[in-house]
Amino acid sequence: METLDIILCSAILGILLVAFRKRGQSDDDTIPTVSSFLPWIGRAIEYGSNSFEYLLKCEAQYGPAFKLHLAGRKFIVFCNEEGINDTLKDTSRAFTTYTSHRQLLDALGGVKQDAGVLMHDRLFPVISRAFSTADGVASLAPSFNKTIYSLLSSLEQNISGSSDVHLLHFVGENFYSATSKVVFGSGFPTDTYSDYYTVDNHFVLLMSPIPFTGRAVKRARDRLVRAIEDYIQRSWKNSRLEGASAMATEMYQKIRGRRLSPSDEAGVILTVMWGLHSNVINTSYWLFAYVLADTPSFLRVREEIDSTLRTRFNGDINEFLSSSSASHNLPLLDSAIKETLRFVILMHSLREAQKDTTISFGEGQTAVIREGDLVLLYPGAASRTFRSGRELDRFCVDRYLPNEKTSNEGSSGIQPPFWGFGSGTRMCKGKYLALHELRVFFVTCVYLFDMKLVDENGSAVQGPLPPTDPRSLGAARPSKSMFLRMSRRLK
Ligand code: HEM
Repeated sequence: METLDIILCSAILGILLVAFRKRGQSDDDTIPTVSSFLPWIGRAIEYGSNSFEYLLKCEAQYGPAFKLHLAGRKFIVFCNEEGINDTLKDTSRAFTTYTSHRQLLDALGGVKQDAGVLMHDRLFPVISRAFSTADGVASLAPSFNKTIYSLLSSLEQNISGSSDVHLLHFVGENFYSATSKVVFGSGFPTDTYSDYYTVDNHFVLLMSPIPFTGRAVKRARDRLVRAIEDYIQRSWKNSRLEGASAMATEMYQKIRGRRLSPSDEAGVILTVMWGLHSNVINTSYWLFAYVLADTPSFLRVREEIDSTLRTRFNGDINEFLSSSSASHNLPLLDSAIKETLRFVILMHSLREAQKDTTISFGEGQTAVIREGDLVLLYPGAASRTFRSGRELDRFCVDRYLPNEKTSNEGSSGIQPPFWGFGSGTRMCKGKYLALHELRVFFVTCVYLFDMKLVDENGSAVQGPLPPTDPRSLGAARPSKSMFLRMSRRLK
Protein backbone atom coordinates (compact mmCIF):
# COMPACT_ATOMS: atom_id res chain seq x y z
CA MET A 1 0.00 0.00 0.00
CA GLU A 2 1.35 3.45 -0.84
CA THR A 3 2.21 5.85 1.94
CA LEU A 4 -0.59 8.17 0.89
CA ASP A 5 -3.11 5.33 1.12
CA ILE A 6 -1.91 4.42 4.60
CA ILE A 7 -2.19 8.04 5.68
CA LEU A 8 -5.66 8.27 4.21
CA CYS A 9 -6.87 5.08 5.81
CA SER A 10 -5.49 6.28 9.13
CA ALA A 11 -7.21 9.61 8.63
CA ILE A 12 -10.52 7.97 7.91
CA LEU A 13 -10.14 5.65 10.88
CA GLY A 14 -9.29 8.70 12.91
CA ILE A 15 -12.42 10.51 11.88
CA LEU A 16 -14.54 7.57 12.76
CA LEU A 17 -12.78 6.96 16.06
CA VAL A 18 -12.65 10.47 17.35
CA ALA A 19 -16.04 11.54 16.13
CA PHE A 20 -18.13 8.66 17.20
CA ARG A 21 -16.96 6.93 20.32
CA LYS A 22 -20.34 5.53 21.30
CA ARG A 23 -21.28 2.13 19.91
CA GLY A 24 -24.67 1.35 18.49
CA GLN A 25 -26.65 -0.94 20.77
CA SER A 26 -27.81 -4.17 19.22
CA ASP A 27 -28.03 -5.60 15.72
CA ASP A 28 -31.29 -6.41 14.03
CA ASP A 29 -31.76 -8.63 11.02
CA THR A 30 -34.03 -6.64 8.78
CA ILE A 31 -31.30 -5.57 6.38
CA PRO A 32 -28.12 -7.36 5.24
CA THR A 33 -24.74 -6.76 6.83
CA VAL A 34 -21.64 -6.34 4.68
CA SER A 35 -19.42 -9.25 5.65
CA SER A 36 -16.01 -8.57 7.14
CA PHE A 37 -13.14 -10.70 8.41
CA LEU A 38 -11.49 -8.01 10.45
CA PRO A 39 -13.04 -7.56 13.88
CA TRP A 40 -13.57 -3.95 14.95
CA ILE A 41 -11.87 -2.47 11.84
CA GLY A 42 -14.57 -3.98 9.62
CA ARG A 43 -14.46 -2.53 6.12
CA ALA A 44 -12.76 0.74 7.09
CA ILE A 45 -9.77 0.17 4.80
CA GLU A 46 -11.82 -0.38 1.63
CA TYR A 47 -14.13 2.47 2.59
CA GLY A 48 -11.21 4.78 3.37
CA SER A 49 -9.44 4.20 0.06
CA ASN A 50 -12.46 5.05 -2.15
CA SER A 51 -15.71 5.50 -0.27
CA PHE A 52 -17.87 6.29 -3.32
CA GLU A 53 -16.81 3.24 -5.33
CA TYR A 54 -16.87 0.94 -2.33
CA LEU A 55 -20.44 1.88 -1.41
CA LEU A 56 -21.54 1.41 -5.03
CA LYS A 57 -20.05 -2.10 -4.94
CA CYS A 58 -21.88 -2.87 -1.68
CA GLU A 59 -25.11 -1.55 -3.16
CA ALA A 60 -24.76 -3.82 -6.20
CA GLN A 61 -24.20 -6.81 -3.90
CA TYR A 62 -26.51 -6.12 -0.94
CA GLY A 63 -29.24 -3.86 -2.30
CA PRO A 64 -30.34 -0.33 -1.38
CA ALA A 65 -29.93 -0.62 2.41
CA PHE A 66 -27.19 -2.39 4.31
CA LYS A 67 -25.19 -2.35 7.54
CA LEU A 68 -21.51 -1.66 7.41
CA HIS A 69 -19.07 -1.97 10.31
CA LEU A 70 -16.31 0.63 10.27
CA ALA A 71 -13.86 1.12 13.10
CA GLY A 72 -16.09 -0.16 15.86
CA ARG A 73 -19.27 1.59 14.75
CA LYS A 74 -22.30 0.36 12.91
CA PHE A 75 -23.38 2.42 9.92
CA ILE A 76 -26.72 1.96 8.18
CA VAL A 77 -26.34 3.04 4.56
CA PHE A 78 -29.28 4.01 2.35
CA CYS A 79 -28.75 4.20 -1.41
CA ASN A 80 -32.28 4.55 -2.74
CA GLU A 81 -34.88 7.28 -3.03
CA GLU A 82 -37.24 6.00 -0.35
CA GLY A 83 -34.59 5.38 2.32
CA ILE A 84 -32.92 8.75 1.69
CA ASN A 85 -36.19 10.70 1.72
CA ASP A 86 -37.52 8.95 4.81
CA THR A 87 -34.32 9.83 6.71
CA LEU A 88 -34.05 13.42 5.44
CA LYS A 89 -37.73 14.14 6.07
CA ASP A 90 -37.76 12.56 9.54
CA THR A 91 -40.08 14.70 11.67
CA SER A 92 -39.70 12.76 14.91
CA ARG A 93 -36.32 14.35 15.59
CA ALA A 94 -34.72 10.93 15.72
CA PHE A 95 -31.51 12.16 14.10
CA THR A 96 -28.91 14.78 14.81
CA THR A 97 -25.98 16.17 12.80
CA TYR A 98 -24.57 17.80 15.90
CA THR A 99 -21.64 15.37 16.34
CA SER A 100 -20.32 15.69 12.81
CA HIS A 101 -20.60 19.50 12.87
CA ARG A 102 -18.76 19.67 16.20
CA GLN A 103 -15.99 17.55 14.66
CA LEU A 104 -15.85 19.90 11.68
CA LEU A 105 -15.41 22.90 13.97
CA ASP A 106 -12.64 21.06 15.78
CA ALA A 107 -10.77 19.87 12.67
CA LEU A 108 -11.38 22.69 10.24
CA GLY A 109 -11.44 25.66 12.58
CA GLY A 110 -9.14 24.21 15.27
CA VAL A 111 -11.84 25.27 17.77
CA LYS A 112 -11.01 23.99 21.26
CA GLN A 113 -14.19 24.96 23.13
CA ASP A 114 -17.48 23.25 22.29
CA ALA A 115 -19.14 25.56 19.77
CA GLY A 116 -21.52 22.97 18.23
CA VAL A 117 -24.63 24.43 19.88
CA LEU A 118 -23.57 27.97 18.92
CA MET A 119 -23.23 26.83 15.31
CA HIS A 120 -26.51 24.92 15.11
CA ASP A 121 -28.83 27.01 17.23
CA ARG A 122 -27.48 30.53 16.78
CA LEU A 123 -25.50 30.78 13.53
CA PHE A 124 -27.46 28.52 11.16
CA PRO A 125 -30.65 30.59 11.70
CA VAL A 126 -28.71 33.78 10.82
CA ILE A 127 -27.35 32.15 7.65
CA SER A 128 -30.78 30.79 6.84
CA ARG A 129 -32.48 34.21 7.16
CA ALA A 130 -29.84 35.79 4.96
CA PHE A 131 -29.36 33.20 2.22
CA SER A 132 -32.14 30.64 2.06
CA THR A 133 -34.69 32.89 0.39
CA ALA A 134 -34.48 34.83 -2.85
CA ASP A 135 -35.31 38.06 -0.94
CA GLY A 136 -32.48 37.54 1.54
CA VAL A 137 -29.96 37.13 -1.27
CA ALA A 138 -31.26 40.26 -3.03
CA SER A 139 -29.45 42.46 -0.48
CA LEU A 140 -26.01 40.98 -1.31
CA ALA A 141 -26.52 40.20 -4.99
CA PRO A 142 -25.76 43.65 -6.49
CA SER A 143 -22.38 43.93 -4.79
CA PHE A 144 -21.48 40.30 -5.61
CA ASN A 145 -22.39 40.88 -9.28
CA LYS A 146 -20.40 44.10 -9.45
CA THR A 147 -17.32 42.52 -7.85
CA ILE A 148 -17.40 39.44 -10.09
CA TYR A 149 -17.83 41.56 -13.19
CA SER A 150 -14.96 43.81 -12.24
CA LEU A 151 -12.63 40.84 -11.53
CA LEU A 152 -13.52 39.05 -14.77
CA SER A 153 -13.47 42.10 -17.02
CA SER A 154 -10.02 43.07 -15.76
CA LEU A 155 -8.85 39.55 -16.65
CA GLU A 156 -10.45 39.96 -20.08
CA GLN A 157 -8.57 43.20 -20.66
CA ASN A 158 -5.28 41.51 -19.85
CA ILE A 159 -5.73 38.64 -22.29
CA SER A 160 -4.10 39.05 -25.66
CA GLY A 161 -4.70 36.15 -28.00
CA SER A 162 -5.55 33.25 -25.76
CA SER A 163 -4.50 32.16 -22.32
CA ASP A 164 -4.72 28.84 -20.44
CA VAL A 165 -5.82 29.20 -16.83
CA HIS A 166 -6.02 26.48 -14.16
CA LEU A 167 -9.77 25.88 -13.99
CA LEU A 168 -10.06 25.18 -10.26
CA HIS A 169 -7.95 28.19 -9.26
CA PHE A 170 -9.66 30.45 -11.77
CA VAL A 171 -13.03 29.61 -10.26
CA GLY A 172 -11.70 29.37 -6.69
CA GLU A 173 -9.82 32.67 -6.54
CA ASN A 174 -12.64 34.67 -8.10
CA PHE A 175 -15.36 33.25 -5.84
CA TYR A 176 -13.14 33.42 -2.74
CA SER A 177 -12.32 37.03 -3.38
CA ALA A 178 -15.81 38.22 -4.39
CA THR A 179 -17.83 36.34 -1.75
CA SER A 180 -15.41 37.14 1.09
CA LYS A 181 -15.48 40.86 0.23
CA VAL A 182 -19.24 40.97 -0.11
CA VAL A 183 -19.90 39.11 3.14
CA PHE A 184 -16.98 40.29 5.32
CA GLY A 185 -16.13 43.63 3.71
CA SER A 186 -13.12 44.88 1.79
CA GLY A 187 -10.96 44.59 4.93
CA PHE A 188 -11.06 40.81 4.67
CA PRO A 189 -7.61 39.42 3.71
CA THR A 190 -8.41 37.69 0.40
CA ASP A 191 -4.70 37.04 -0.21
CA THR A 192 -5.25 33.96 1.99
CA TYR A 193 -6.72 32.00 -0.94
CA SER A 194 -3.82 29.56 -1.28
CA ASP A 195 -4.09 28.57 2.42
CA TYR A 196 -7.85 28.24 2.03
CA TYR A 197 -7.33 26.01 -1.01
CA THR A 198 -4.86 23.78 0.87
CA VAL A 199 -7.32 23.38 3.75
CA ASP A 200 -10.27 22.64 1.47
CA ASN A 201 -8.39 20.21 -0.71
CA HIS A 202 -6.89 18.18 2.14
CA PHE A 203 -9.29 18.65 5.00
CA VAL A 204 -9.60 14.89 5.52
CA LEU A 205 -6.03 15.03 6.87
CA LEU A 206 -7.02 17.63 9.45
CA MET A 207 -9.22 15.00 11.01
CA SER A 208 -6.46 12.47 11.55
CA PRO A 209 -5.51 11.94 15.23
CA ILE A 210 -2.14 10.54 14.19
CA PRO A 211 0.72 12.91 15.02
CA PHE A 212 2.71 14.35 12.09
CA THR A 213 0.03 13.67 9.47
CA GLY A 214 -1.19 16.65 7.52
CA ARG A 215 1.30 19.08 9.05
CA ALA A 216 1.29 21.34 5.99
CA VAL A 217 -2.51 21.51 6.07
CA LYS A 218 -2.53 22.28 9.78
CA ARG A 219 -0.03 25.08 9.23
CA ALA A 220 -2.22 26.50 6.45
CA ARG A 221 -5.26 26.25 8.75
CA ASP A 222 -3.42 27.98 11.61
CA ARG A 223 -2.26 30.82 9.32
CA LEU A 224 -5.85 31.28 8.15
CA VAL A 225 -7.11 31.39 11.74
CA ARG A 226 -4.50 34.04 12.60
CA ALA A 227 -5.41 36.11 9.53
CA ILE A 228 -9.09 36.02 10.53
CA GLU A 229 -8.19 36.93 14.13
CA ASP A 230 -6.31 40.00 12.83
CA TYR A 231 -9.20 40.89 10.57
CA ILE A 232 -11.65 40.78 13.50
CA GLN A 233 -9.36 42.91 15.63
CA ARG A 234 -9.03 45.54 12.90
CA SER A 235 -12.68 45.56 11.84
CA TRP A 236 -14.64 45.33 15.11
CA LYS A 237 -15.66 48.91 15.85
CA ASN A 238 -18.77 50.25 17.60
CA SER A 239 -20.22 46.73 17.88
CA ARG A 240 -20.02 46.21 14.13
CA LEU A 241 -17.66 44.52 11.71
CA GLU A 242 -16.76 47.58 9.70
CA GLY A 243 -17.65 47.27 6.00
CA ALA A 244 -19.12 43.78 6.44
CA SER A 245 -22.66 42.66 5.56
CA ALA A 246 -25.40 42.85 8.21
CA MET A 247 -25.40 39.05 8.24
CA ALA A 248 -21.67 38.81 9.09
CA THR A 249 -22.03 41.39 11.86
CA GLU A 250 -25.06 39.62 13.36
CA MET A 251 -23.20 36.32 13.22
CA TYR A 252 -20.12 37.75 14.90
CA GLN A 253 -22.24 39.38 17.62
CA LYS A 254 -23.59 35.93 18.45
CA ILE A 255 -20.10 34.40 18.45
CA ARG A 256 -18.81 37.19 20.68
CA GLY A 257 -21.64 36.58 23.14
CA ARG A 258 -20.21 33.11 23.78
CA ARG A 259 -16.93 34.48 25.19
CA LEU A 260 -14.67 32.16 23.20
CA SER A 261 -10.92 32.74 22.94
CA PRO A 262 -9.91 34.98 19.98
CA SER A 263 -8.54 32.00 18.06
CA ASP A 264 -11.71 29.95 18.67
CA GLU A 265 -13.81 32.90 17.47
CA ALA A 266 -11.71 32.99 14.30
CA GLY A 267 -11.99 29.19 13.96
CA VAL A 268 -15.80 29.39 14.05
CA ILE A 269 -15.70 32.09 11.34
CA LEU A 270 -13.33 29.93 9.28
CA THR A 271 -15.75 26.99 9.50
CA VAL A 272 -18.68 29.16 8.36
CA MET A 273 -16.48 30.62 5.62
CA TRP A 274 -15.60 27.15 4.39
CA GLY A 275 -19.35 26.39 4.19
CA LEU A 276 -19.79 29.59 2.21
CA HIS A 277 -17.12 28.75 -0.37
CA SER A 278 -16.37 25.05 -0.63
CA ASN A 279 -19.45 23.62 -2.35
CA VAL A 280 -19.91 26.70 -4.55
CA ILE A 281 -16.33 26.55 -5.84
CA ASN A 282 -16.32 22.79 -6.39
CA THR A 283 -19.74 22.87 -8.09
CA SER A 284 -18.74 25.73 -10.35
CA TYR A 285 -15.57 23.86 -11.33
CA TRP A 286 -17.60 20.79 -12.38
CA LEU A 287 -20.25 22.91 -14.10
CA PHE A 288 -17.61 24.36 -16.44
CA ALA A 289 -16.00 20.94 -16.89
CA TYR A 290 -19.17 19.00 -17.71
CA VAL A 291 -20.70 21.63 -19.96
CA LEU A 292 -17.51 22.45 -21.88
CA ALA A 293 -16.56 18.78 -22.32
CA ASP A 294 -19.71 18.37 -24.41
CA THR A 295 -19.67 20.96 -27.21
CA PRO A 296 -23.34 20.57 -28.29
CA SER A 297 -24.42 21.13 -24.66
CA PHE A 298 -22.17 24.15 -24.34
CA LEU A 299 -23.54 25.69 -27.55
CA ARG A 300 -27.10 25.25 -26.30
CA VAL A 301 -26.34 26.84 -22.92
CA ARG A 302 -24.48 29.68 -24.62
CA GLU A 303 -27.37 30.27 -27.02
CA GLU A 304 -29.79 30.44 -24.09
CA ILE A 305 -27.58 33.00 -22.35
CA ASP A 306 -27.03 35.08 -25.50
CA SER A 307 -30.69 35.17 -26.43
CA THR A 308 -31.78 35.96 -22.85
CA LEU A 309 -29.31 38.85 -22.69
CA ARG A 310 -30.52 40.07 -26.09
CA THR A 311 -34.25 39.78 -25.58
CA ARG A 312 -34.66 40.57 -21.88
CA PHE A 313 -31.70 42.84 -21.13
CA ASN A 314 -31.12 44.70 -24.43
CA GLY A 315 -27.84 42.83 -24.93
CA ASP A 316 -26.41 44.71 -21.95
CA ILE A 317 -24.63 42.59 -19.32
CA ASN A 318 -24.90 45.46 -16.83
CA GLU A 319 -28.69 45.39 -17.10
CA PHE A 320 -28.58 41.67 -16.39
CA LEU A 321 -26.24 42.18 -13.43
CA SER A 322 -28.44 44.85 -11.88
CA SER A 323 -31.63 42.80 -12.22
CA SER A 324 -32.99 40.44 -9.56
CA SER A 325 -32.15 36.75 -9.59
CA ALA A 326 -35.81 35.87 -10.12
CA SER A 327 -35.87 37.66 -13.49
CA HIS A 328 -32.88 35.81 -14.95
CA ASN A 329 -34.97 32.98 -16.41
CA LEU A 330 -32.28 30.58 -17.65
CA PRO A 331 -33.91 27.13 -17.39
CA LEU A 332 -31.25 25.25 -19.36
CA LEU A 333 -28.42 26.70 -17.27
CA ASP A 334 -30.39 25.87 -14.11
CA SER A 335 -30.85 22.31 -15.38
CA ALA A 336 -27.09 22.08 -16.05
CA ILE A 337 -26.39 23.23 -12.46
CA LYS A 338 -28.76 20.62 -11.03
CA GLU A 339 -27.31 17.90 -13.25
CA THR A 340 -23.81 18.93 -12.13
CA LEU A 341 -24.89 18.68 -8.48
CA ARG A 342 -26.13 15.14 -9.14
CA PHE A 343 -22.48 14.25 -9.77
CA VAL A 344 -20.87 16.56 -7.22
CA ILE A 345 -22.83 16.04 -3.99
CA LEU A 346 -22.41 12.32 -3.70
CA MET A 347 -22.85 11.86 -0.01
CA HIS A 348 -24.71 13.69 2.72
CA SER A 349 -23.31 14.26 6.16
CA LEU A 350 -23.92 11.55 8.70
CA ARG A 351 -26.94 11.41 10.91
CA GLU A 352 -26.58 10.03 14.43
CA ALA A 353 -29.71 8.39 15.88
CA GLN A 354 -30.57 9.89 19.25
CA LYS A 355 -33.40 7.42 19.77
CA ASP A 356 -34.63 4.17 18.24
CA THR A 357 -36.57 4.64 15.04
CA THR A 358 -37.61 2.87 11.83
CA ILE A 359 -36.87 3.93 8.25
CA SER A 360 -38.89 2.69 5.27
CA PHE A 361 -36.91 2.07 2.14
CA GLY A 362 -39.56 0.96 -0.32
CA GLU A 363 -41.75 -2.02 -1.15
CA GLY A 364 -42.86 -2.38 2.47
CA GLN A 365 -39.29 -2.87 3.69
CA THR A 366 -38.09 -1.20 6.87
CA ALA A 367 -34.80 -0.85 8.70
CA VAL A 368 -34.64 -0.62 12.47
CA ILE A 369 -32.25 2.06 13.64
CA ARG A 370 -31.00 1.97 17.23
CA GLU A 371 -29.98 4.91 19.36
CA GLY A 372 -26.31 5.59 18.66
CA ASP A 373 -26.34 4.10 15.12
CA LEU A 374 -24.96 6.22 12.34
CA VAL A 375 -26.97 6.64 9.18
CA LEU A 376 -25.13 7.46 5.98
CA LEU A 377 -27.05 8.65 2.92
CA TYR A 378 -25.69 8.12 -0.55
CA PRO A 379 -27.78 10.13 -3.04
CA GLY A 380 -24.97 9.83 -5.60
CA ALA A 381 -25.75 6.11 -5.89
CA ALA A 382 -29.51 6.58 -5.74
CA SER A 383 -29.65 9.09 -8.56
CA ARG A 384 -27.43 6.99 -10.83
CA THR A 385 -29.20 3.70 -10.45
CA PHE A 386 -32.65 5.28 -10.33
CA ARG A 387 -35.27 3.04 -11.97
CA SER A 388 -33.56 2.26 -15.21
CA GLY A 389 -30.06 1.27 -14.24
CA ARG A 390 -26.58 2.53 -14.92
CA GLU A 391 -27.00 4.71 -18.04
CA LEU A 392 -27.58 7.65 -15.72
CA ASP A 393 -23.79 7.85 -15.38
CA ARG A 394 -23.79 10.27 -18.33
CA PHE A 395 -24.07 14.06 -17.91
CA CYS A 396 -27.22 15.29 -19.62
CA VAL A 397 -27.51 19.07 -19.73
CA ASP A 398 -31.29 19.23 -20.12
CA ARG A 399 -32.17 16.46 -17.68
CA TYR A 400 -33.79 18.85 -15.20
CA LEU A 401 -35.63 21.12 -17.62
CA PRO A 402 -39.06 21.64 -16.07
CA ASN A 403 -42.05 19.97 -17.75
CA GLU A 404 -40.21 18.94 -20.86
CA LYS A 405 -38.89 15.72 -22.19
CA THR A 406 -35.14 15.84 -22.40
CA SER A 407 -33.85 15.78 -25.92
CA ASN A 408 -30.39 14.26 -25.55
CA GLU A 409 -30.14 10.83 -26.99
CA GLY A 410 -30.02 8.16 -24.31
CA SER A 411 -31.42 10.22 -21.47
CA SER A 412 -34.92 8.76 -22.09
CA GLY A 413 -36.51 11.69 -20.30
CA ILE A 414 -35.51 10.31 -16.89
CA GLN A 415 -35.46 12.84 -14.07
CA PRO A 416 -33.96 11.26 -10.98
CA PRO A 417 -34.78 12.89 -7.63
CA PHE A 418 -32.70 15.93 -6.80
CA TRP A 419 -30.93 16.21 -3.44
CA GLY A 420 -28.17 18.65 -4.43
CA PHE A 421 -29.10 20.91 -1.52
CA GLY A 422 -30.42 18.17 0.76
CA SER A 423 -34.01 18.07 1.93
CA GLY A 424 -36.11 18.36 5.08
CA THR A 425 -35.09 20.26 8.20
CA ARG A 426 -31.36 20.10 7.48
CA MET A 427 -31.70 21.40 3.93
CA CYS A 428 -28.97 23.77 2.76
CA LYS A 429 -29.25 27.23 4.32
CA GLY A 430 -27.27 28.86 1.50
CA LYS A 431 -29.17 27.48 -1.46
CA TYR A 432 -30.33 30.75 -3.05
CA LEU A 433 -27.00 32.45 -2.60
CA ALA A 434 -25.24 29.46 -4.16
CA LEU A 435 -27.57 29.33 -7.16
CA HIS A 436 -27.29 33.06 -7.71
CA GLU A 437 -23.49 32.99 -7.58
CA LEU A 438 -23.20 29.98 -9.91
CA ARG A 439 -25.49 31.57 -12.51
CA VAL A 440 -23.95 35.03 -12.47
CA PHE A 441 -20.39 33.70 -12.69
CA PHE A 442 -21.17 31.39 -15.61
CA VAL A 443 -23.19 34.00 -17.54
CA THR A 444 -20.48 36.65 -17.11
CA CYS A 445 -17.78 34.24 -18.34
CA VAL A 446 -19.87 33.27 -21.38
CA TYR A 447 -20.46 36.95 -22.15
CA LEU A 448 -16.79 37.93 -21.88
CA PHE A 449 -14.86 34.90 -23.10
CA ASP A 450 -14.58 32.20 -25.68
CA MET A 451 -13.70 29.12 -23.65
CA LYS A 452 -12.40 25.64 -24.30
CA LEU A 453 -11.57 22.87 -21.81
CA VAL A 454 -8.02 21.54 -22.21
CA ASP A 455 -5.81 19.12 -20.27
CA GLU A 456 -2.30 19.75 -18.95
CA ASN A 457 -0.84 19.02 -22.40
CA GLY A 458 -3.10 21.59 -24.00
CA SER A 459 -5.26 18.97 -25.77
CA ALA A 460 -9.00 19.57 -25.92
CA VAL A 461 -11.04 17.61 -23.36
CA GLN A 462 -14.24 16.17 -24.81
CA GLY A 463 -16.44 13.33 -23.63
CA PRO A 464 -16.09 11.61 -20.25
CA LEU A 465 -14.11 13.56 -17.65
CA PRO A 466 -11.23 12.09 -15.64
CA PRO A 467 -12.48 10.26 -12.51
CA THR A 468 -13.01 12.20 -9.29
CA ASP A 469 -10.47 12.11 -6.48
CA PRO A 470 -11.19 9.00 -4.35
CA ARG A 471 -10.13 10.95 -1.24
CA SER A 472 -13.09 13.31 -1.60
CA LEU A 473 -15.39 13.61 1.38
CA GLY A 474 -18.77 15.23 0.76
CA ALA A 475 -18.41 16.99 -2.60
CA ALA A 476 -16.35 15.27 -5.30
CA ARG A 477 -12.94 16.83 -5.95
CA PRO A 478 -11.03 16.59 -9.26
CA SER A 479 -8.30 13.98 -9.59
CA LYS A 480 -6.48 15.78 -12.42
CA SER A 481 -5.90 19.41 -13.27
CA MET A 482 -7.91 20.83 -16.13
CA PHE A 483 -7.49 24.21 -17.79
CA LEU A 484 -9.64 26.79 -19.51
CA ARG A 485 -8.30 28.15 -22.78
CA MET A 486 -9.73 31.65 -22.75
CA SER A 487 -9.82 34.39 -25.31
CA ARG A 488 -11.83 37.60 -25.61
CA ARG A 489 -15.23 37.01 -27.09
CA LEU A 490 -15.92 39.19 -30.10
CA LYS A 491 -19.23 40.95 -29.60
C1 HEM B 1 -23.38 24.76 -4.58
C2 HEM B 1 -23.29 25.10 -3.31
C3 HEM B 1 -23.87 24.32 -2.17
C4 HEM B 1 -24.27 23.03 -2.11
C5 HEM B 1 -24.26 22.01 -3.23
C6 HEM B 1 -24.71 22.77 -0.76
C7 HEM B 1 -25.21 21.55 -0.33
C8 HEM B 1 -25.69 21.32 0.94
C9 HEM B 1 -26.28 20.09 1.37
C10 HEM B 1 -26.47 18.84 0.51
C11 HEM B 1 -26.62 20.23 2.66
C12 HEM B 1 -27.34 19.21 3.54
C13 HEM B 1 -26.36 18.32 4.26
C14 HEM B 1 -27.09 17.30 5.09
O1 HEM B 1 -28.16 16.81 4.71
O2 HEM B 1 -26.55 16.98 6.15
C15 HEM B 1 -26.22 21.56 3.07
C16 HEM B 1 -26.37 22.07 4.34
C17 HEM B 1 -25.98 23.35 4.70
N1 HEM B 1 -25.51 24.35 3.87
FE1 HEM B 1 -25.13 24.16 1.90
N2 HEM B 1 -24.55 23.91 -0.02
C18 HEM B 1 -24.06 24.89 -0.85
C19 HEM B 1 -23.76 26.19 -0.51
C20 HEM B 1 -23.96 26.74 0.73
C21 HEM B 1 -23.68 28.10 1.06
C22 HEM B 1 -23.19 29.19 0.10
C23 HEM B 1 -23.95 28.25 2.38
C24 HEM B 1 -23.81 29.53 3.16
C25 HEM B 1 -23.13 29.64 4.24
C26 HEM B 1 -24.41 26.95 2.89
C27 HEM B 1 -24.79 26.69 4.18
C28 HEM B 1 -25.28 25.47 4.62
C29 HEM B 1 -25.62 25.20 6.01
C30 HEM B 1 -25.49 26.17 7.18
C31 HEM B 1 -26.06 23.87 6.07
C32 HEM B 1 -26.48 23.08 7.30
C33 HEM B 1 -27.95 23.12 7.44
C34 HEM B 1 -28.42 22.39 8.67
O3 HEM B 1 -27.81 21.41 9.09
O4 HEM B 1 -29.44 22.84 9.18
N3 HEM B 1 -24.40 26.08 1.85
N4 HEM B 1 -25.67 22.21 1.99
